[in-house]
Amino acid sequence: MSRDDLRARGLVRRYGGLTAVEHVDMDVPSGQVTGLIGPNGAGKSTLFSLLTGVEQPDEGRVHLGRRDITKMRPDARSRRGLVQTFQVPSLFPSLTVADNLLVAAENRRRDYAGGLLGMGSRGRGNALGVVEEVLGSLGLEDIRGTVAGTLPTGALRLVEFARALCARPDVLLLDEPASGLDAAETEKLSVLVRRIADDGVAILLVDHDVDLVFRVVDRVYAMVGGRVVAEGAPETVRDDPTVRSVYLAQGPLTSQATTSLGPGVAAAGSPAAGSQAMSSAGR
Ligand SMILES: Nc1ncnc2c1ncn2[C@@H]1O[C@H](COP(=O)(O)OP(=O)(O)O)[C@@H](O)[C@H]1O
Ligand SMILES: [Mg+2]
Repeated sequence: MSRDDLRARGLVRRYGGLTAVEHVDMDVPSGQVTGLIGPNGAGKSTLFSLLTGVEQPDEGRVHLGRRDITKMRPDARSRRGLVQTFQVPSLFPSLTVADNLLVAAENRRRDYAGGLLGMGSRGRGNALGVVEEVLGSLGLEDIRGTVAGTLPTGALRLVEFARALCARPDVLLLDEPASGLDAAETEKLSVLVRRIADDGVAILLVDHDVDLVFRVVDRVYAMVGGRVVAEGAPETVRDDPTVRSVYLAQGPLTSQATTSLGPGVAAAGSPAAGSQAMSSAGR
């Protein structure tokens, strides 16, 4: 079964005299990881909110598959398969991990008929089964009975990710999923993101960790000042003169961010970070 793509056309969002998002077109196709990068204030979070429905655009449309969802509320989008993770995990702190996932699985759409992480039709009408599958796929069985509020950051983020998967997304929007994760956890996350896309899910990955974004994505959009200044394959965007000059002029989002743009840019960062960037450039 083919899943729904997410498509934005001509999105504009103004805050008073400031245009945070200025005529942005974006495609988040099924089976691919699409990245979104940009320095602080570029408009990434605002665009993300327009896609999730948290904010309404002043102009432009958002489509999920053939359906125009521009006016649809976030919870309705979520039931139709557009699921997001939050920078601050949206878990019930007093519930166990398993119960948090059960809530998400029970809120899923009734018309789901896909095969995420091998769940397939077995998952239909069986929220418990879905929770078990996701716990197993993400290696979270050991903490299934742990109260969410007591988990350390890395585990919390994985559970937040699991929560989103239990909603069986067609489109998964990830906002800074790697923030607070160590290198091993980030690597685990990137493998999971890839695997879920390979299952046919459309993924949008917004992260300050440009190194992670370039390593995982199929295509990437670079925003500056509310506009998309470059889009395409990671190598193309990394070498784009505008992207390079902006990252040099405005300083890195993180030390990794600048160095990840390539050896030429790495000269602006520390030598140690530069050598790391060269070994991790590209996919
Ligand atoms: N609710 C808001 N009210 C006024 N200005 C806002 C609001 N949200 C964001 N902005 C402004 O819009 C611009 C883009 O912000 P944001 O989307 O958060 O960028 P990013 O996520 O790329 O850092 C910034 O100049 C920011 O100050
Ligand atoms: Mg932001």
